[in-house]
Amino acid sequence: MSSITMKRILVTGAFGQIGSELTMALRRKYGNDNVVAVGHKTKPSEALLKSGPSGFVDVTKRDNVEESVKKHDIDTIYHMAAILSATGEKNPQLAWDVNMNGLYNILEIAREQKMVRVFWPSSIAAFGPETPRENTPQETILRPRTVYGVAKVAGELLCDYYFRRFELDVRGVRYPGIISSETPPGGGTTDYAVAIFYEAIKHKKYTCFVREDTVLPMMYMPDCIKATMDLMEADLSKLKHHADYNLSAMSFSAGELAAEIKRHIPEFTCEYKPDFRQAIADSWPRSIDDSASRKEWGWRPTYNLSMMTKDMLEKLSKRYSEGRL
Ligand code: SER
Repeated sequence: MSSITMKRILVTGAFGQIGSELTMALRRKYGNDNVVAVGHKTKPSEALLKSGPSGFVDVTKRDNVEESVKKHDIDTIYHMAAILSATGEKNPQLAWDVNMNGLYNILEIAREQKMVRVFWPSSIAAFGPETPRENTPQETILRPRTVYGVAKVAGELLCDYYFRRFELDVRGVRYPGIISSETPPGGGTTDYAVAIFYEAIKHKKYTCFVREDTVLPMMYMPDCIKATMDLMEADLSKLKHHADYNLSAMSFSAGELAAEIKRHIPEFTCEYKPDFRQAIADSWPRSIDDSASRKEWGWRPTYNLSMMTKDMLEKLSKRYSEGRL
């Protein structure tokens, strides 16, 4: 499908870590007025508010979503609203409600309104301790231990069902941990890989909530945005999967990340005090085989650990020196 038919976009969770940068990228590509940013809790940035339409939507309230969809004549949804893994373990009932009922509402509205396309992200959290941890295959054991992961697996299956049963073109990737400089993540297990940069710049030290040898798959935001938009533009006839594409860019341990930051900030020190998030991290893969994404829609990441670290430190240092961090 060409970009001409994708013209009225709704982004849920638009004020969150990924949603905020995705909204701006979509506005640049499809036009400011064609991308409606809706969120629930997080406060949106001025840039996001000023550049296009926005509003309040609670995805667990079907009427709320429906109203926004009809008002703006939406034909494409990027459904980014979610409760992440660590917050999910503190409030599993809320996580299930937002992550599962939220997705169900979006899929049902998309089906009824005969929408062109829906994007919904899955995650490395769909995997569990029985999954092969190195170079995790596309087709593998999915027995997650977090409520967030359970909702991701159920969501992948539900999206597949909507594709087969109702011909709803719903697409998605299993995001690794996402590292970004604009909007901090909230309530995830991979949040340390973002927080470490803020603390390195502000205080030259960080206390990490996973062990030094904890390795997880990660990705820098520009690659995350590129993957999301490229998959949504891909030729449907080439796609053998729908909402469950493995996606990979880099893997490193918390200690390797700290060492890379230290190359730029020699005074930086990191200590390790694992908490309940260690067990979640230990249940996820260390690296991902994303050959299906590479083959079916041409995925290729740009950023590795050293490029990402350099760019993060440059961006955050600039904001810090301007008093905006
Ligand atoms: N980054 C997410 C989390 O840590 C995983 O999808 O919860």
